[in-house]
Amino acid sequence: MNKVLLIGSGGREHAIAHALKRGGAKIYAVMPHKNPGIAKLSQDYAVGPLSIGFVKDLEWVKFREVDFAVIGPEAPLIEGMADMLEEKGIPVVGPRKNAAIIEGSKEFMRELMKKHGIGGFVDYYVFNSAKKVEEFLREYDKPFVIKPVGVTGGKGVRVMGDHFQSKEEGIKYAKEVMEKKIGGTSRVIIEEKMVGEEYTLQVFTDGNDLKGMPLVQDFKRAYEGDKGPNTGGMGSYSLENHLLPFLTGEDYARSMKILEDVIAAMRREGRTYKGIMYGQFMLTAEGPKIIEINCRFGDPEAMNVLPIMKTNFVDVAWSILENKLKDIVVEFENKATVVKYVVPEGYGTPNPAKNEVIKVNEERIKKEGALLYYASVDERGGEIYTTTSRSLAVVGIGNNLEEAEKTAERALRHISGKIYMRHDIAKREMIEAKIKRMKNLRKGS
Ligand code: AMP
Ligand code: GLY
Repeated sequence: MNKVLLIGSGGREHAIAHALKRGGAKIYAVMPHKNPGIAKLSQDYAVGPLSIGFVKDLEWVKFREVDFAVIGPEAPLIEGMADMLEEKGIPVVGPRKNAAIIEGSKEFMRELMKKHGIGGFVDYYVFNSAKKVEEFLREYDKPFVIKPVGVTGGKGVRVMGDHFQSKEEGIKYAKEVMEKKIGGTSRVIIEEKMVGEEYTLQVFTDGNDLKGMPLVQDFKRAYEGDKGPNTGGMGSYSLENHLLPFLTGEDYARSMKILEDVIAAMRREGRTYKGIMYGQFMLTAEGPKIIEINCRFGDPEAMNVLPIMKTNFVDVAWSILENKLKDIVVEFENKATVVKYVVPEGYGTPNPAKNEVIKVNEERIKKEGALLYYASVDERGGEIYTTTSRSLAVVGIGNNLEEAEKTAERALRHISGKIYMRHDIAKREMIEAKIKRMKNLRKGS
């Protein structure tokens, strides 16, 4: 019997819990809010912060009662929770601190790619002085992007032409990042702005080999038509052929090669990377380029790929832990998937509708053939309450995108409360617009 410690309580972790359970594991969960979905699948759970201090004193950890651990979110990985658990004899699907830095520092990631001559590279410049960044930007004549070096959950990045228009506004924001230490440091990266379509490639890796998952496209903007503030992701889709409507098998192979080179570079640097690596790419006129690399599954992207995984997730976990990933075939069903997140009204603004009851008819959702994954909700006295983050997600699975999208939409009808969701995600018009945009971009190059 496999006893697994699962760290995290989002939609991503509910999907991981579901995959572990299907693989025959017994789950011991740690979560900051009681996620009713994870609680139901678990043998036992503890509610508390996802900090090293809290987790190291849990009985399951102290007495090594679990066989391995899966860490869902980036923060504990970046903090070194894998190191702590491994020191206690519990192997972890997830990188140690010296490898999780690939997400923890965008500067590290860009330097690694530059040093090792990895493809998919963009021009970038790092500053720690307001005067220098201003001098530089006054001379810089290409559209640019401003990023805090540290982690901001995708919410600290500002793109020219998108979040700000003039150089002046850009300079002002770059200075603000430094003054307020957005992302935890006063360092800021200026990157050349890439134009194209974004997508996600997630891989399993044992530090040597890697196995790719179906590609996913997620939608970061809060409102329909890709408007409004950036969020953790409002929904996502994947196709039955595991590619995307605007992307070829060759683009997939080039993206895999980039991640393969990153994993090899990490090994050469003495930072062997084990677990899940998430590549966020932009398909540009010149091909795939890296936007960022994350040290975990994506949320929502985990909910697209894990439910259609044919190979037992527990077996894949062991093959990662035992450095035997090359010996296992990791297969996914040829199905399309659509994830739609339900969020509190006002999510993305400073005042989302928190502590409001959400009514969820689990039976009806199941009857529609959809999956339901809970995220940042709190279960109290048999009711489900919103927090300030994304509440729950539905997943439609089908033989094609249209089928999957319709299933997700039908499921959404059985959820009510002070909530919001993006109905446009994965609709035909949206997909056609993307195909057209990419075609024009490639023609122009
Ligand atoms: P990140 O936190 O690095 O994932 O950035 C958040 C979002 O900003 C990405 O999803 C992109 O939409 C956008 N972005 C980041 N870097 C660039 C870039 N160099 N060019 C264009 N867009 C970017
Ligand atoms: N969906 C974006 C992320 O997980 O980083």
